[in-house]
Parts: sequence; C-alpha cells; structure tokens
Amino acid sequence: GVTPKIAPSMLSSDFSNLASEAKRMLDFGADWLHMDIMDGHFVPNLTIGAPVIESLRKHTKAYLDCHLMVTNPVDYVEPMGKAGASGFTFHVEVSKDNWQELIGRIKSKGMRPGVALKPGTPIEEVYPLIDSENPVEMVLVMTVEPGFGGQKFMPEMMDKVRALRKKYPSLDIEVDGGLGPSTIDMAASAGANCIVAGSSVFGAPEPAAVISLMRKSVSE
Ligand code: DX5
Ligand code: ZN
Repeated sequence: GVTPKIAPSMLSSDFSNLASEAKRMLDFGADWLHMDIMDGHFVPNLTIGAPVIESLRKHTKAYLDCHLMVTNPVDYVEPMGKAGASGFTFHVEVSKDNWQELIGRIKSKGMRPGVALKPGTPIEEVYPLIDSENPVEMVLVMTVEPGFGGQKFMPEMMDKVRALRKKYPSLDIEVDGGLGPSTIDMAASAGANCIVAGSSVFGAPEPAAVISLMRKSVSE
C-alpha cells in the first residue's frame, strides 16, 4: 500500500529563516519538506537552487522533496545531488527526449526520481516513464499552473489522479497546488498519497492541526 506523506511547501515559508521554518514544520508533523526550484524560464518566477538546499541540509536530516520547475533539469542533477536533495522531480514537458538518461543520472546521484506534469499535459505522457525498466518512483500531478503559491485548486485534475491510481496501485502520487482542509478530501479520494501544501499550512493559526487533518484524510 501507499503511505501518506504530508509535505509543506517551503515556498510559503520565511526564506530568511529557512532552517527554523523547516524545523517548525517537522515539529508540527510534516513527513517531507517540499522545495520548489524555479529558474525564471520554465515558470515566470525565480526561487532557490542547490546552494540553498546545501545550506538547509546542514540543519536537517529530513527528506527534501525537490520539485524542479526548470527548462534544463539535467544541469541540476549533479549540484542537487551534492547539495543533499532526496527526491528530484522534473517536468515531463521539458524531458521528452532525454528522460531515460535523466532518470539514470538522478538515481546514480542517490536521489529518488519523480516526474511532474502541468495542468494542460495529458496523463498518458507520463506512462512510459513509469513503465520503463528504470522507472520514476513518483508522479506529481500539478493542481495549479506551476510558478506561484496561493492559487486555486483545479478539481478537474483529479481525473488524472484517478487514472494513475487505477493503473498503478502502489505508486507514490503527489498533488501540488491549492491543497488544504477544503480540497484534501477530493485529492485523497482520487488516490493521491503525497500532499504538498504551502499557503494553507503556513497561513494557518495552527499548522499542526492542518497537517494532521490532511494525514487523516489520506489515511481513511
Ligand atoms: C507552485 C509550487 C507549489 C506551491 C504550492 O508552483 O509547485 O509547491 O508552493 O503552494 P500552495 O499550497 O499555496 O498552492
Ligand atoms: Zn511544488
């Protein structure tokens, strides 16, 4: 079976206090820390890269679930591996020709490979990467357009999650964008088990309550 993983998105944290923000989320019961890497090209926003992952790694042993919203993910594999990233999730839209090589490199650097898809990308596009001899170990279904936190959850993306879960009963399926107490049940019942949540967790008066509510919904 699949285990619930609740992954606060550090994009909504105070980046000037990243280590203490990370510790706070882990104390609140987070399983993973979701790290949004953006290059200002694949998405119209710029965030953090390997140097920040390396700095954070010195303060925590937590699983760093890195989501690479970048045009050239292959260039990031070695630096991210050295920095101490745990998961390396690239976008299918930019790896149409080289995903086999990319997955191999990610694994050789000791990271867990995942593939993400934007709302406009059909789910069928990730199937070859899961059915491959050297497969991705997680699929991230974007439930907003990538680039920014605080956007509205797109419920129509649950068709993709349902199709994936039917075909792959034990795959890690992550949802990212607009998740929180009002949308978690849709994601959980569709079959998602890894839940990214930024603004709903960081903006809550009691983040621990939001984290445990989401875990409970996924576990039921
Ligand atoms: C958006 C990022 C998300 C974002 C989610 O491009 O991939 O991880 O931080 O933030 P919320 O939960 O606020 O939608
Ligand atoms: Zn993300």
